[in-house]
Amino acid sequence: MPRMIIMKIIIKVGDILPGSLCTETFIMRIKLEICQIGAFLLSITLSAMAADESVPELNPQRPAVRRPVDICQSEGFVFTANHGSGSISVIDADRLLTVQEFHAGKHLAALESWGTRLLVLDNSRHQLLTLQYSAAEGKMRILDRCTVADHPVDIAISDDGSLIAVSSLWSRMVTLLEPNSAGLPQIRNAVPLDFAPRRLLFTQDQQLLVADSFGGSLCLVDTVSGKAGAVLQINGHNIRGLAHGPDGRSVLVTAQTLNSDTFTTYERVFWGVLMRNSLHTVPLAAFQSAAVSSPTRINETYAGGSYSGISDRSDTADVTADAAAFGLYPLGTPSIGSGDPGQLIVTADDITMLVVSGTNQVAYRVAGHLPFERMRVGRRPESLCVDADRRLVFVAGRFDDSVSVIDLEGKSPALRQIISLGTQRELTPVEQGERAFYDASLSLDGWYSCHSCHTDGHTNGLLSDTFGDEDLGAPKKVLSLLGTGDTGPWAWTGGRGQLEEQVTTSLIISMQCQLETEELPVVELSSYLRTLVPPPSVQAARRDQVNQQLLEAGRKLFQQRGCIDCHAGVHLTSTDSWDTGLHDELGVTHFNPPSLRGVSQRRPWFHDGRADTLEDVLRSSHHDQSAPLPVEEIGLLKAYLESL
Ligand code: HEC
Ligand code: HEC
Repeated sequence: MPRMIIMKIIIKVGDILPGSLCTETFIMRIKLEICQIGAFLLSITLSAMAADESVPELNPQRPAVRRPVDICQSEGFVFTANHGSGSISVIDADRLLTVQEFHAGKHLAALESWGTRLLVLDNSRHQLLTLQYSAAEGKMRILDRCTVADHPVDIAISDDGSLIAVSSLWSRMVTLLEPNSAGLPQIRNAVPLDFAPRRLLFTQDQQLLVADSFGGSLCLVDTVSGKAGAVLQINGHNIRGLAHGPDGRSVLVTAQTLNSDTFTTYERVFWGVLMRNSLHTVPLAAFQSAAVSSPTRINETYAGGSYSGISDRSDTADVTADAAAFGLYPLGTPSIGSGDPGQLIVTADDITMLVVSGTNQVAYRVAGHLPFERMRVGRRPESLCVDADRRLVFVAGRFDDSVSVIDLEGKSPALRQIISLGTQRELTPVEQGERAFYDASLSLDGWYSCHSCHTDGHTNGLLSDTFGDEDLGAPKKVLSLLGTGDTGPWAWTGGRGQLEEQVTTSLIISMQCQLETEELPVVELSSYLRTLVPPPSVQAARRDQVNQQLLEAGRKLFQQRGCIDCHAGVHLTSTDSWDTGLHDELGVTHFNPPSLRGVSQRRPWFHDGRADTLEDVLRSSHHDQSAPLPVEEIGLLKAYLESL
């Protein structure tokens, strides 16, 4: 066997599965890779890779942009996962000092402490790393790398440590793992979901609650069968915090609610009518009584802080659980918005604390019945953890590379100190644009950021009347900005020829930004948006086997049916606007076709979100329903669209 081929195969195996044997899929893939060279070579390769790797140390004083996105504490130390630098910062929890930094990967997405070990997600390699930190030696080691479903974003661990869950965004999967005989995580199930997940929470009976990253779905996964169960849809989106309520029977959820029936005018933003930020209480019993077949929409109201409505849609099942156990608590009042509420904790003595990421604050209440107060912390707090022994809360500030320390002793929580993770270098215009994108202070009174609608550059899937069509009364679906740099003109009508023009309008109208025109961060935001790339299709992210014949037939039909006339070129769009028969409420007839790259990751489709499935989109060849497509053609075109 030529040496080159053997080397290539070893490298490939190393890419996908160093350390431990993970999923059946990966075992299958490895079997394919090695079928020519035999199991002997595999065993040598794997045993060589299973050896400990020590993690290179970095100097925290070197100028860098770290961007800590997650934080945890263990054995007297606090650790942050830094997305920008791929490093882990180590803070001494007694001295409140950054003591070390280690380079663990390219982009880290999350970390948790697991006994004396750390579990860290390397988002760019789709791996869950098991690390061991030794303070005495000042060293960190990688004990294991386990490849999980693509694009992992968050980790949860059950109370007794016997189950680990990892959510993966674009592949819409949750990976369940358990310790193997060597005490390292090994994959038990890979659970497909109908939505792109992020936050996770184990219930006391070891079930797993999974929250939507963009919309408002909450799904209870049965960890025994490894199957997704009932889905509840809260009246909200951008779920960024999940925690157990003090009664143990409900979960607390932080989310935003965009009102699609109103406009982005000064008054409506000022009074919190356009975007609300809330703490929802959802009783776990509601999942038991909800149907598994279709999502159950819960129609919460603020009445008396408790929930009264049940289902507002005829196609959804009713919740028969004790309705009074639902709750909705508003965060923010006129002139004090609370854009982008995020992670939250409830301490044993009933202190609830959550990050208000967009306004650089934490909100806290010292008892469940008291109102929330605010405290300023580092820039864009996204994650927090509590050190119960020291009575301290640590809050990671993503945009100033900081950890704020809050003291829980005393009558009410107080900011003790802000720890720097190291020297931050000067930001590039793109990095400044990213910071602005997540900054709720650019909106009137801090009610929301660009990310509140265009979640992480994608879309929350809702409609909003942002005046993009120059008129009020015809709300439009929030467009995904992933890939937007290449797909001008902008807005559904294609009315804006320059991205900068659209961004200026977004700041002035959508955000009701109160800065002077020359102070608007238009250049920075536009350069940031130009770096965003379309997401992979769900199919590609799952690495599904594709039926190439079906795909080829779909691609041909896409051309024969003239789809290509309007969805052309590498981005599958065009610069013209067309009348496809889908007119809006105000009689606008011509729309600019959105790029079809990553189209499977959006739901719903069309400017008014009228298509809930890709089949709905494909009812006719030109979208106007006048020339219905045969069912077989719909199947072929769907297969093609799902591959893009
Ligand atoms: C309240 C929700 C909301 C907020 C906040 C918001 N947008 Fe939008 N955005 C929309 C909607 C809805 C559209 C589609 C409007 C239309 O075409 O009529 C849109 C369209 C866009 C487009 C055009 C995309 C394309 O491919 O044509 C860009 C670019 C954009 N927004 C950028 C931003 C930026 C930057 C911010 C923050 C400064 C922002 N938006 C804030 C709702 C919002
Ligand atoms: C005459 C031009 C034209 C033709 C032909 C055409 N489209 Fe479109 N397409 C559009 C426009 C314009 C929109 C946006 C319409 C709207 O939302 O009002 C659109 C929207 C879509 C969307 C939804 C995108 C989203 O993000 O909401 C999909 C998917 C799509 N087209 C696929 C197809 C396929 C498949 C065909 C062929 C069977 C096709 N189109 C034929 C112009 C066209």
